[in-house]
Amino acid sequence: MEYRTLIEPDRIHGSLYTNAEVFSHELARIWYREWVFVAHESELPESGDYVTRNVGRQPVVITRGEEGVIRVLLNRCSHRANLLCQDEKGSSHSFRCPYHGWTFTNSGELVGVPFRNGYGKTPIREKLALSRAPRVGSYKGFIFASLSPSGPALMEHLGNAAEAIDRLVDLSPDGEVELTAGWLKHKVSANWKMAVENQVDGYHPRFVHDSLFSAAKYQVRELCTDSSSALVRDHGNGHTELDFRPEYRKEGTSFIWFGRASEAKFPEYVERMVRRYGAERSRQLLMDGPPHVMIFPNLFLAEMNLLVIEPIGPSLTVQRQTSVLLKGAPEINRRAMRQTEGAMGPGGLLIPDDCEMMERNQVGLTAMSPEWLTLSRGMHREYSDEDGSLASNVTDETAQRGIWKKYLETMTEE
Ligand code: FES
Ligand SMILES: [Fe+2]
Repeated sequence: MEYRTLIEPDRIHGSLYTNAEVFSHELARIWYREWVFVAHESELPESGDYVTRNVGRQPVVITRGEEGVIRVLLNRCSHRANLLCQDEKGSSHSFRCPYHGWTFTNSGELVGVPFRNGYGKTPIREKLALSRAPRVGSYKGFIFASLSPSGPALMEHLGNAAEAIDRLVDLSPDGEVELTAGWLKHKVSANWKMAVENQVDGYHPRFVHDSLFSAAKYQVRELCTDSSSALVRDHGNGHTELDFRPEYRKEGTSFIWFGRASEAKFPEYVERMVRRYGAERSRQLLMDGPPHVMIFPNLFLAEMNLLVIEPIGPSLTVQRQTSVLLKGAPEINRRAMRQTEGAMGPGGLLIPDDCEMMERNQVGLTAMSPEWLTLSRGMHREYSDEDGSLASNVTDETAQRGIWKKYLETMTEE
């Protein structure tokens, strides 16, 4: 596949969203090589806790071992490949394969083989441990795995996106977030890259989300216009952002990002924030709000929600969603969960509309012409900003161009 002929600075070829060969290259080059978000430490707080997830199409179990060590094990019995763990989450220091009863510790060692005599004197326990992701890293509770033994370190990969994680956890008076509200899942008949690009598309909200804007107070209506001072940012490494802070700062008040709530609604939270961060910093945090940042390839910090993208096939993606819970802020969390239900749930007013657009894109792509998708919006007015990002008006396609730049590098590097 000659990717250089399919990706140009201002347009991309439609086959990149539909071709099965492209999809399998992406699994190998992006999903099985790069850092991929797998879970949050709050989902497995105690030794023995585990959750099951996917890295690309690889089923994995993320476990916390005796010493608190987090491991990412491939969820495949080393006997005859049965899916070892079926539960979404649980707590156990060992896993017993349902097929022939082989037992593994939660660090992956084979410790039990029924009817052992059938293997004579051949040593098998030592040879048949579970496979593990060779690299696992964590930043402020966010656990990432790479199925490649080599490559850039996690912090190098995150680059400027680490600061977005800081911004999110700093909204907690304890400096920590928890992802323990449970996950909603949407199965979407669209390519995974449609989801990545849509998260940071500031052009569509005025049209796709008009029904939400007419039903509820939602700050994004005014933010995503050609005359808004909100920005789109390309942070490099494929990480991108819709930055609403310039608009919030213009108004200079807290909680615009939280349905324009007043500070008087959460006096204890505000007090705890001031105690931790001091009056000035806390005022800034409550004015700026949470980040709207897409960390390539699968973690979307969606303000008070968090979305994770899982590729299933060229035209099938699962998007999971949860509320971001701020440790030490129960009153904020209660409201955040109600917002998640209203926006993200199956009958929600926000994300189902995005999913519908992604699916219609995928149907549109079956028409043979025009073969290319245009990504030129705002090219003439983007600029390098002082935080090191490439920035432009929030409705511009700077983010999508940044994502495709990273994509091209990853798909063509030696
Ligand atoms: S496949 Fe797991 S014990 Fe046989
Ligand atoms: Fe949207």
